[in-house]
Amino acid sequence: MLKPLLSPLSLLVLFFFLHCTTTFAQSPAQSPAPSAPTNITSIFEKAGQFTTLIRLLKSTQVGDQLNTQLKNSNQGLTIFAPTDNAFANLKSGTLNSLSDQQKVQLIQFHILPSFLSMSQFQTVSNPVRTQAGDSQSPLNVTTSGNQVNITTGVVNAAVANTIYTDTKLAVYQVDQVLLPLDLFGTPAPAPSKPRKKASDASSSSDDGDNSADSSPAICLNHGGLNVIFFTVSVTAALLLCL
Ligand SMILES: *[C@@H]1O[C@H](CO)[C@@H](O)[C@H](O)[C@H]1NC(C)=O
Ligand SMILES: *[C@@H]1O[C@H](CO)[C@@H](O)[C@H](O)[C@H]1NC(C)=O
Repeated sequence: MLKPLLSPLSLLVLFFFLHCTTTFAQSPAQSPAPSAPTNITSIFEKAGQFTTLIRLLKSTQVGDQLNTQLKNSNQGLTIFAPTDNAFANLKSGTLNSLSDQQKVQLIQFHILPSFLSMSQFQTVSNPVRTQAGDSQSPLNVTTSGNQVNITTGVVNAAVANTIYTDTKLAVYQVDQVLLPLDLFGTPAPAPSKPRKKASDASSSSDDGDNSADSSPAICLNHGGLNVIFFTVSVTAALLLCL
């Protein structure tokens, strides 16, 4: 009879099979950690009416950068969040006319690299530094009573309310997209090419960090290996059964 031979081998196969399924189950957990205490996109998902902003945060990868920055800096962050309405009120084609680099700049222009509470706006000094960094676009905060406004030289937007705040992150809803002067300064509405480049050539505009992580590829390879294991095991099992 085959029985005595079959059992140890099928145990082996079973072992392989179990090994495979457990590593399979573990693989997703190895992808870059969403374990951060604060996830910026989920704040916007919870708040609703920010689907365009969420899409931009994802496509530009600025969302991931912000989550990392929040974890690693003591300064905190302040985000001005335009609603879907605010984006819808832009001239049609405005977003599509921007290059990827300019989309990154636009989003970063809405972010201050430090935590500012509502009352701190009263004493902030203009122009306020944004994550867009060395751009030639000022972002000024003006207040009157409890009303806080943001002027860029292109738009004057009101801060509507606080969406989220803890000790490190403040997120405020704004009723308009904050258009930076150096991208949208040309009064002619033609949304073709922003020609207003900073006059001095020293501006290092191309400073995007390509920190694309390689973990997904590794996971894939790992998965591939498991598939081979799996196939071998199943084949062995089939052969033994016949
Ligand atoms: C803030 O902006 C609104 C329009 O968005 C305007 O009516 C108001 O006067 C502005 N307030 C200040 C202090 O600039
Ligand atoms: C921003 O504030 C600075 C300093 O007060 C001022 O020189 C500049 O004209 C302001 N720009 C805008 C667009 O309000």
